[in-house]
Amino acid sequence: MPDAADRQLAAQYEAYPYPARDPREEARRLVVGSPSHLREVDHWIFGARRPASVPLRALMAGGGTGDGTIMLAQQMAWAGREGSVTWLDRSGTARRIAEARAAARGLSNIRFVEGSILDLPGSGLGPFDYIDCCGVLHHLPDPAAGLRALLSVLAPGGGLGLMVYAPHGRTGVYMLQDALRLLAPAEEPPAARLEVARRLWRQAPETAWLRRNPWLTDHLSGGDAGLYDLLLNPRDVAFTVPALQALLEGAGLTATCWVEPVRYDPDTYLSDPRLRARTAALSPLGRAALAEAITGNMGIHIVYCVRAGETPAPPPWDDPAAVPALREWDGPTIARNLPPDGTLPVAFDGLQVRLPLPRLAGAILQRVDGRRSLGAIADELAARGVSREQFARDLGQLRHALERLNRLLLAAPA
Ligand SMILES: C[S@@+](CC[C@H](N)C(=O)[O-])C[C@H]1O[C@@H](n2cnc3c(N)ncnc32)[C@H](O)[C@@H]1O
Repeated sequence: MPDAADRQLAAQYEAYPYPARDPREEARRLVVGSPSHLREVDHWIFGARRPASVPLRALMAGGGTGDGTIMLAQQMAWAGREGSVTWLDRSGTARRIAEARAAARGLSNIRFVEGSILDLPGSGLGPFDYIDCCGVLHHLPDPAAGLRALLSVLAPGGGLGLMVYAPHGRTGVYMLQDALRLLAPAEEPPAARLEVARRLWRQAPETAWLRRNPWLTDHLSGGDAGLYDLLLNPRDVAFTVPALQALLEGAGLTATCWVEPVRYDPDTYLSDPRLRARTAALSPLGRAALAEAITGNMGIHIVYCVRAGETPAPPPWDDPAAVPALREWDGPTIARNLPPDGTLPVAFDGLQVRLPLPRLAGAILQRVDGRRSLGAIADELAARGVSREQFARDLGQLRHALERLNRLLLAAPA
């Protein structure tokens, strides 16, 4: 049910559509990320088994100024994929920006619909094979009701990509939100509240936790929309791993991927064998919750999920016809730059870890171009004296590192 906070939320995104975007930037760059990257949808929702020739009907629920919408529609257009992306949001100002971005790119595969997620049931929209809801559920009066509304238009065998806030990485945010509720009550006009927030940020003592949290930047570089969204949002709840899992379970959903999976594995950070013996005894959920608790830096959770009972078969890594692809990485460049110690340094919001790679990592990555099949790569390496067994073993280890980094994925079959 819409309440006062929901009305204030609607006014916020009308005054400050989020995120701040200038359509002229489309000529220079495509904003990419998770969820809803086409390669991720193919891999994590459909297990790299849904043919690329089958049209994809996508819904971007709470599409805002269009980041996910533009990314997915552009990737589909570049790949010659049939289907359409439906942008749905209550904000007319956000719609005008998203439309201008689509026009700047000449995209004709997007449909714009102004309306509420909560009105999806019975709206005549859908069904959709894929639904994105990024940064929206945690603002709704009842996130579970929002999820139910999304599920009412999800096609059988389809899936969702969700992003919700997580508490630890947002340390400092909720204290300043509390402060601003006192200094600039939500009933005041948005512009007046924003001015107070700017003044407070200038004067907040150095011990204010947000000052010590370098991983949040919306208040610094996100313009008015970023500052408002971070510190003045009338409703914003954060979900721990167990809380998000409970939300999914309550909706009859099961996660196929927590992005990035390697981040949710406590063994990524703990090498002590005694601790490893204990992490090994934990359930997958317990392991993910532990990873969240010990890292302390997760500010969002991104999950791909499907209806429980409709989990796709895992991506066919043992199929020689399967085609591996790197997400936003160039195989030969990565292969050339692999450190000699056999580990790959990666960083997650300031947390550096090194992922062990197998001996053949460079030789395999050099050949991953989104066109060559696993069988073709194995053949090329066999011609250089690499046994099939060794290829299979090293591919497994490479996958353990890079599929879990959400980088090495399987492409949709033709
Ligand atoms: C933080 S923005 C996220 C935008 C976009 N998904 C992204 O990640 O860039 C939240 C968006 O959800 C929209 N929204 C909030 N409640 C909604 C509702 N009940 N129905 C439709 N859109 C809603 C807002 O208008 C706003 O554009």
